[in-house]
Amino acid sequence: MNVKTIGILTSGGDAPGMNAAIRSVVRAALKNDMRVLGVMRGYNGLINGDMVEMNMRSVSDIIQRGGTILYTARCKEFKEMSGVLKAKEVCEQVGMDGLVVIGGDGSFRGAGDLSSVGIPCVGIPGTIDNDIACTEYTIGYDTAMNTAMEMVDKIRDTAQSHDRCSVVEVMGRRAGYIALNAGIACGATFICVPEIGLDMDKMIEKIQAAHKLGKKHFIIMVAEGIGNVKGIAEEIEKCTGIEARETVLGHVQRGGNPTVTDRVVASRMGFHAVELLKQGIGNRVVAQQKGEIVDFDIQEALAMKKQFPIELYNIANDISF
Ligand code: ADP
Ligand code: F6P
Repeated sequence: MNVKTIGILTSGGDAPGMNAAIRSVVRAALKNDMRVLGVMRGYNGLINGDMVEMNMRSVSDIIQRGGTILYTARCKEFKEMSGVLKAKEVCEQVGMDGLVVIGGDGSFRGAGDLSSVGIPCVGIPGTIDNDIACTEYTIGYDTAMNTAMEMVDKIRDTAQSHDRCSVVEVMGRRAGYIALNAGIACGATFICVPEIGLDMDKMIEKIQAAHKLGKKHFIIMVAEGIGNVKGIAEEIEKCTGIEARETVLGHVQRGGNPTVTDRVVASRMGFHAVELLKQGIGNRVVAQQKGEIVDFDIQEALAMKKQFPIELYNIANDISF
């Protein structure tokens, strides 16, 4: 297959480093004498034909920026086959021979559907949650963890001044990776993740044991998938007598300049995606395994299960007194 034109889009929640991936895809494709169309607002842009021609300068000055210059969206229409077929028609009209999709699992499901109707698609994992099973790393994760860590460091200052317990909710949808790692990095007394579940008695016991050992302020890290930080803070205050406050960090974790890791992984994955498409290979997801950039069949990737690092979780709780 002679691939002359490829498209690129970002889909689902944005993540720092998506711009670095866009830059890499655009530059690698242009270098291979392909045309690149930047599709706006995820699959919406594909259905509506909202796309712009990209050149070397279209991606200047973006490697260091959070967000996505192509904008992003969660497109309901593309979940239906009618939406996929509409998009296929648009791809054929503009002569798009392949497409790079930067996003999460849902976005890859869409990329698989579009591949099955004859438009080869390659997915690049971009989400702060690190919840994609086929890859040990997703673009945006490192930046989000560092942001969460910096924010909790600030919260600790005031928790320490008031002898309080701060209960902090971090993002991750149904995954606890940000909570686990930012929790370790911030010295949280207890970390609550959906993969383990919340044992309120165990948490209270841990706070009381640390209190007995002279600890006066506490950080409790709660993953979004557990939620109810207000209720948790109230329970802590009721059971321990320690004043407790809750904070939901929210979207601050999705923004900001990407870290070195996010920029480098995004650049490598973007390059790899173009290497596949230039050979006409679609229906693949780019991934990182043991530090190497590899790729998987989309359906196989979606069927994989990610193993939560339980040993790390146990270490975290063992060293936080
Ligand atoms: P997030 O987790 O931030 O929502 P995803 O990558 O999971 O990110 O994006 C979900 C989006 O993917 C949906 O809103 C939709 O626009 C798109 N999508 C396309 N096809 C599908 C599909 N078959 N199933 C789920 N999502 C799909
Ligand atoms: O997938 C990234 C993420 O930030 C999750 O951690 C969170 O659950 C979700 O997206 C929030 O999405 P939004 O606020 O954009 O609807």
